Amino acid sequence: MASRQPIYLNPSAATERCDPVDTLGPRQLHQSLRGYGPTPLVNLPDLASDLGVRAVFLKDESNRFGLPAFKILGAAWGCYRALASLYGLSISSPTRSSLDELASRAQQAGVILVAATEGNHGRAVAYMANKVLGVRAIIFVPEHMHESTQQLIAGEGPGTVAVQLVHGDYDAAVREAAEYAARTSTAVLIQDTSLPPDYVDVPGWIVEGYATMMAEVEEQLAALGLVADAVVVPVGVGSLAHAVARYCKSRDKPVLVVTVEPDTAACLWTSLRAGKHVTVSTSETIMAGLNCGTASATAWPDLQRLVDVAVTVSCRQSHEAVGYLASPASSPLLSRPAVAAGPCGAATVAALWRLAKDPDAGKAVLGRDSVVVVLSTEGPREYSVPPKS
Ligand SMILES: Cc1ncc(COP(=O)(O)O)c(C=O)c1O
Repeated sequence: MASRQPIYLNPSAATERCDPVDTLGPRQLHQSLRGYGPTPLVNLPDLASDLGVRAVFLKDESNRFGLPAFKILGAAWGCYRALASLYGLSISSPTRSSLDELASRAQQAGVILVAATEGNHGRAVAYMANKVLGVRAIIFVPEHMHESTQQLIAGEGPGTVAVQLVHGDYDAAVREAAEYAARTSTAVLIQDTSLPPDYVDVPGWIVEGYATMMAEVEEQLAALGLVADAVVVPVGVGSLAHAVARYCKSRDKPVLVVTVEPDTAACLWTSLRAGKHVTVSTSETIMAGLNCGTASATAWPDLQRLVDVAVTVSCRQSHEAVGYLASPASSPLLSRPAVAAGPCGAATVAALWRLAKDPDAGKAVLGRDSVVVVLSTEGPREYSVPPKS
């Protein structure tokens, strides 16, 4: 079914600013991990032509360190900072502790990394545990999680990564993971959503880690002599959007921030419209990574201030965007390669289609000279094709 939820516009976000974001520490850590390289920024001239804008670029996160999503950027920096803080080790030059040093301390202490997930974050934490740090992990997952997703998480560390099914939704999994970590002395909780007042540091570091993606986008555009005018970001708990919004509003020329959520899990959109941080009940969606009922409490104040436009899309709209990206455009002037995107990533293209149909929102984001960046946050994965409306 097509989303019928109105587009949320916040004109006052245009003049809001943030302090400069320090991307150096996370970037250096990411560069030190085996297999680091900036992910591609793909030009979509056919989409730009359809929308009547100067350019649309897609940041393709379908392969980060061999994982099919961006989440490892946050999990890596979150793990590094959490362990450094646990052992009182330096994170600054020239005495900055190495990952190897942290790994050997964590191994000696029998650390177990703990996280709750809809899929990608937990897989990234499992990867950090088994492939980078050499410790165990336990990942809490909601009961509706597809069996194949559970297997992918467990497959990151057969014998060292355990998947724990929770009776309930994602929010219930977050609570159970936190309770388990609280009663287990060797557990280190690496959660990408905050649980105030006590659990705010790690989610903050995870947000810092995501900024590497925006730093890459800026460099990739600069190499073409361009700067972004708008960035479209998918939202689950809003930690990625928090990183994007802080980055966008700290640039010399502030960049518009457009968020997109499933219409069945629009926790940010609902909160923005209500003017307060609220929880929504969620139901199944093919955009599994975005199926969250509560935005991260520490991200919320900035998101309320900095998000310019919030859009919701239906499963069908996201599925159509997956299909659109998967077919290469072959017209001689507007050719582009096929792009392998999953529903969470393609939701950003579906959001642009919704904006194009809305005169006010379209005017705000899709100007003739606009350079628009969509963050395609995951690679393709299996899902049940939603029916046509
Ligand atoms: C593929 C994908 N895209 C986007 C998001 C949204 O990130 P956040 O939960 O920080 O809003 C997620 C979250 O799991 C995800 O897995």
